[in-house]
Amino acid sequence: MGRNNSELLFSTTDQALKLYEQVIHYVNVRIDRGDWPADVKLPSVRSLAQELGVHRLTVFRAYQELKQQGRIYVKDKSGYYAHASHANTLKPLAAYSERSSTKQGLHSESAYAADDPSVSAWRGMDGLTRVQSVNADFQFSKSLIDPSLLPNRYWGELMMQVFEKHPKVAATYSSVQGDAELRDAMAQHFSADKHFALSTDEVLITSGAQQAIDLISRSLLRTGDRVLIERPAYGPAMEIFRRQGARLTTTDIRPEGYDMDQIEWCMKTEKPRLFYMNPTFHNPTGFTVPDEQRKRLPELAERYGCLIVEDDSTYDISFGQKPPSPIFAYDISGSVVYIRSYSKYVAPGLRIAAVTCRRQLMASLLSVKALVDNGSPLLNQKLFLQYFQSPRMQQHIKKLCIALQIRKETMEDSLRESGWTWTSPSGGLNLWLQLPFALKPNELLAKSIEESVSFVPGNVFDPVGAEGKTHVRLSYSYANEQQIKEGISRLLCISRSM
Ligand SMILES: Cc1ncc(COP(=O)(O)O)c(C=O)c1O
Repeated sequence: MGRNNSELLFSTTDQALKLYEQVIHYVNVRIDRGDWPADVKLPSVRSLAQELGVHRLTVFRAYQELKQQGRIYVKDKSGYYAHASHANTLKPLAAYSERSSTKQGLHSESAYAADDPSVSAWRGMDGLTRVQSVNADFQFSKSLIDPSLLPNRYWGELMMQVFEKHPKVAATYSSVQGDAELRDAMAQHFSADKHFALSTDEVLITSGAQQAIDLISRSLLRTGDRVLIERPAYGPAMEIFRRQGARLTTTDIRPEGYDMDQIEWCMKTEKPRLFYMNPTFHNPTGFTVPDEQRKRLPELAERYGCLIVEDDSTYDISFGQKPPSPIFAYDISGSVVYIRSYSKYVAPGLRIAAVTCRRQLMASLLSVKALVDNGSPLLNQKLFLQYFQSPRMQQHIKKLCIALQIRKETMEDSLRESGWTWTSPSGGLNLWLQLPFALKPNELLAKSIEESVSFVPGNVFDPVGAEGKTHVRLSYSYANEQQIKEGISRLLCISRSM
């Protein structure tokens, strides 16, 4: 490591964090990146203080805090060491009624996460990126839409229209908040369609939902803050929060939604700063939180001062009935921030998402967005606007839903005789399947990759719970019907041979 690392990750001019919090953040990042592996001695207080140009007491305080959080440990007279995994930052929320007697249960789940090599092998963002980068003929790991189902023909025509209307568009920066015309069109669309009353100022354009999660995390979270997330959850979101120094608590998402009493109990006692959720056609499970829970969530959030981050990245991909209104529609106190991405099912190459929230939070998001990229590319926004305002976009979404429903049914039919179990989703891109007891997701994956079939093992989405050991996510959105039939037949053949 050297000066470059510390300059990159540590700035004594960062006013948002106290100095010792910055040191905590720095140490967390170095451990997460694998620079400082588990059970290898960390720099001494003196040498880290020297490296970062801070007082020794500042580093000492940071190490004490990290020790308390369970991130590092001390060996007598020898120094400080990193723990074997991030299990300390990811805590399953035990049933609230058993809570007082579950200390042991919590410990044993954490220990499982720390000890199981499959968790560290495939965890989080890293695991997802790794498995998705495998070149497979039968690609069920990508929760992306087959490019041939996306609108490819009209972009040239739309691009010409954009340049006719705005000849200097490529020579101009967007405002930090995003193109006003696009924000206006989105505000009107959301207001008409989803029963929100939104103004143009309450919309921020980001480069995808992922950037939106990152901006929210950077602007709201401080080291040690607690974040409530679903279990299982979208892996990269967990990783973003952890890198911000947050401690995670999980609450199960089920076909019937959440355990609302458990959520209330958690908000009351653990005081999470935010609750990140993906309540419509949830990734990876496909579950949708019912309307009555949606109505109650903003009330709870307001009462306990917890911000709800509603990630609604596949709201439009429904097979049949429209899903219930977003939770944002029931929020009257500014306790919900809503993320809506169009990058997946309209134009991944443009990477457009919208964040809607009330003004106070918007100001804070804008100051972070200004530092991150000073506004998403204007050309992408104008091009997207052209499509957004034409009837073609809704026609495309309608056709896409039909095509995806057929692929989902093809996959389900191919799995019918497998003995694997799942809840059929009414929208989204994925099946979340429970394997028979003897079949281990990571072992199945290793064998499948040899046969050019890929999928995502459950522990990427659930690193501490039981489902991570028994479930897999198969995406039906990327492979075509023929590939689905052939790939699933191969996969089942492999599983039977194990
Ligand atoms: C729940 C969820 N949120 C966010 C994202 C990232 O979306 P984007 O491509 O808009 O950054 C994904 C993509 O898989 C997702 O499934």
